[in-house]
Amino acid sequence: MSERLRRLPYEDLGATEGSSPMGGVFFDTPRFANSVPFFRLQRFGHGDARTESDHKLVVVMVGLPARGKSYIVKKLKRYLSWLGFQTKIFNVGDRRRLAGSTDEYDGPTISTIPASSQKQQQQRPAPRQCAKCDSEHRLPHTPPCRGCETRHSSDFFDPDNAKARQIREQVAMDVFEDLLRWLQAGGQIAIHDATNSTVERRDALISRLQSEEDVNLLFVESICTDADIINRNIRLKTRSPDYVGMDPEVAEADFRARLRNYERAYRTIGEAEERLDVQYCKIIDVGKKVIAYNVQGFLESQVVFYLMNMNLEPRVIYITRHGESEDNALGRIGGDASLAPAGVRYAQALARFIDRRHAEFGAEARGRTMEDDNSTITRERHPNNDDDDEPQPCEVWTSMLKRTMETVESFDPQRYHIKNIRSLNEIYAGRFEGMTYAEIARNFPDEYEARQLDKFYYRYPGIGGESYADVVLRLQQVIVELERIRHSVLLVTHRAMARTLLSYFMDIPTTHMPDMELPLGYVYACEPRPFGNFLRVWRYVPEIDDFVEIDGASALKIRYPRVALSDPGATPPLPSPADTA
Ligand code: F6P
Repeated sequence: MSERLRRLPYEDLGATEGSSPMGGVFFDTPRFANSVPFFRLQRFGHGDARTESDHKLVVVMVGLPARGKSYIVKKLKRYLSWLGFQTKIFNVGDRRRLAGSTDEYDGPTISTIPASSQKQQQQRPAPRQCAKCDSEHRLPHTPPCRGCETRHSSDFFDPDNAKARQIREQVAMDVFEDLLRWLQAGGQIAIHDATNSTVERRDALISRLQSEEDVNLLFVESICTDADIINRNIRLKTRSPDYVGMDPEVAEADFRARLRNYERAYRTIGEAEERLDVQYCKIIDVGKKVIAYNVQGFLESQVVFYLMNMNLEPRVIYITRHGESEDNALGRIGGDASLAPAGVRYAQALARFIDRRHAEFGAEARGRTMEDDNSTITRERHPNNDDDDEPQPCEVWTSMLKRTMETVESFDPQRYHIKNIRSLNEIYAGRFEGMTYAEIARNFPDEYEARQLDKFYYRYPGIGGESYADVVLRLQQVIVELERIRHSVLLVTHRAMARTLLSYFMDIPTTHMPDMELPLGYVYACEPRPFGNFLRVWRYVPEIDDFVEIDGASALKIRYPRVALSDPGATPPLPSPADTA
């Protein structure tokens, strides 16, 4: 390397602050902006199907309102983005609200805005006069205004209302055009989030795709026959932007009328689509039954496999690192050391904390009612359900390294099913295993610097050396299994693993993943909610030998090591001791 790179202190990076969808704070920085999906960058050593991922995919959602489509779409987007695919949701409801009343819509408003300013415009739409009163408000994220009736009452969805139907079709196709433009500009997986509930609409989408090269299509239909889930979804819908400020009962009545209108025109996917040889899958009752037709592509099979494993049970995924190990105390990475005395104390406190916390979670889940929509996404619980008094089961998963297995030694095996899983082993540092960061920086400055420059893709040299991108692939099965099982799990794992797992659950971009500050001594609890996972965080305080809850939103901090050019031959400054903990 002709130029020497120097690592500067972490703070003041000129990064811009943003917020994750779940409220956690991260910092947007161009430093690691690598837009190539890493599936393509992997060296698999055999010409396997992953090269298929060069194809682009359009996922077209199908289904009546209140069938969980948006829930599926958000989850799917989070998973595919975590896997390294450029994925984006194109929601037709948002555009419909922009379209205004039946007489107002005059074509795409956002799609005509140049790409550079589009994001800004979408985040902060210009104020508009309310259609119903004199106040100004910003569309599409706020409704006409509080107190005004919905812009699109159930009549707008009446299949016999020709004018409204034409607008709805036009809006759906405009959004589809945006979606295609985004794919042409480098996107990889685009999701059309709409009801697409008629054969005619689906026909139009199929025809439009025919002129696009290398773009595959997968219909995903969500069907729900469980009245409890539908009723719950309807209640959630009455809080959507269509109904803000409206009496909940009036909103619900309107939404139910809208639903009846949709039901009149709805046709499930079937022969018409099969004749056109398209790929589709039907997810019935949140994955209880799954029908896959003609699913052939690599990306498509990833999608179907993931969707097959969803469930809505209330549960928590707890993530923590092991207690301090002897290697941590010496600042050595990797290895297979035992716990240091401080780590043993943490292990004992962790068992006590999870016993207590998990019982509290069970009581909270039992106490939830249908009206408490902000709590979790779940089926209604019936008061006479005998299972209600059963303690919530919880599994404990560790890696196969001593420091995690020793961390769970105080857990009662009668109450916790303990599993040791090799995929949860720490990122493998190849020939640098057992070294300190200082030793690597001193003896292998080029390697050290290369990792600072692109930590996500950097693969440690030597047999078995891994990158974060490798770790994501290693954890793919673990994630699908975590989605499949119906009860809570505590994962006792390592720093890179905890980063990778949390970035999946909390939807943190992969480019930020390796820089998340996740010190020893924290427990992160992710609870599924209708719009994503809700994060709670506890910190172990040695002085009181117990855990205290801290603010979840600020817990997932990102610390970017600053990398800058310096004079050739200069030795990079060494990381602070905190970097090794
Ligand atoms: O230092 C603890 C540790 O778990 C190491 O074993 C591992 O190599 C490292 O953290 C991962 O963190 P980073 O990717 O920031 O080096």
